[in-house]
Amino acid sequence: MENIPKVSELLKSCRSILFITGAGISAESGLPTYRGIGGLYESQDTEDGIPVETALAGEMLYKDPSVTWKYLLQIERNCRNATFNRAHQIIAEMERAFNRVWVLTQNVDGFHTDAGAEHVIEIHGNLHHLKCMKCYWRKTVKDFSGLTIPPKCPKCGFIIRPDVVLFGEMLPFDKYQTLTDQVEKGFDIYFWIGTTGVFPYIQGPLVDAKHSGSTTVEINPDDTLLSGEVDIKIPMKAGEALERIWKEYKEKI
Ligand code: APR
Repeated sequence: MENIPKVSELLKSCRSILFITGAGISAESGLPTYRGIGGLYESQDTEDGIPVETALAGEMLYKDPSVTWKYLLQIERNCRNATFNRAHQIIAEMERAFNRVWVLTQNVDGFHTDAGAEHVIEIHGNLHHLKCMKCYWRKTVKDFSGLTIPPKCPKCGFIIRPDVVLFGEMLPFDKYQTLTDQVEKGFDIYFWIGTTGVFPYIQGPLVDAKHSGSTTVEINPDDTLLSGEVDIKIPMKAGEALERIWKEYKEKI
């Protein structure tokens, strides 16, 4: 049986779903991915001649905030006139149709919640949530074009930053705890969508899924670290694959 009908058939007996998403699910919104063709990391060094991982590291933000903010601004500019796409919407619709649905996303664009999903773990934070690096000032800013770079706190004058996880920084404890709690409860089916799966906390649920005999699915036109490990590989773009799975599922119930 072709993989799409297999997945839509399996969903009929599922009550809980974990979606694990990466930059690829926002590619159809026009956002570049990080790795692979056209990715932000494709050219190893930035125009300043330093690796992207150095420019976007917590250490650099403290040492020379204007360097880090230059690349944060590049990422925000990519999101500025973009919005969620059909893949984000379908996941939000499935959250309302199934008993228990969670989204673990590495994306900082906020598109899952913008599309209406509620149980979203933004493990790398949200680019639009700005906070002062010294006092308690916080504000959501959807468009950085009016900011002076590096932006200063209107309350205390110190540098402000997006509430995101930069390279070399710890994951937010509260979000990681939520992820651990939810994965411990287990899910009937797991989807990895649009991610190269480079981080251990993105691969980790695969071990839990195999232990519990749950179904694992990857939706990604390319092969990744996960491709040889999942039960079902769907080599398609996120929007097209989810559209077909969701349509065939609704026809079956
Ligand atoms: N549909 C599905 N997958 C797609 C699509 C699409 N339309 N377009 C591209 N992809 C896939 C690519 O084949 C690639 O495997 O999305 C994946 C994107 O991988 P990365 O660019 O590595 O993004 P991601 O896995 O989210 O990176 C994880 O790394 O640098 C950090 O913080 C950054 O959150 C990011 C993390």
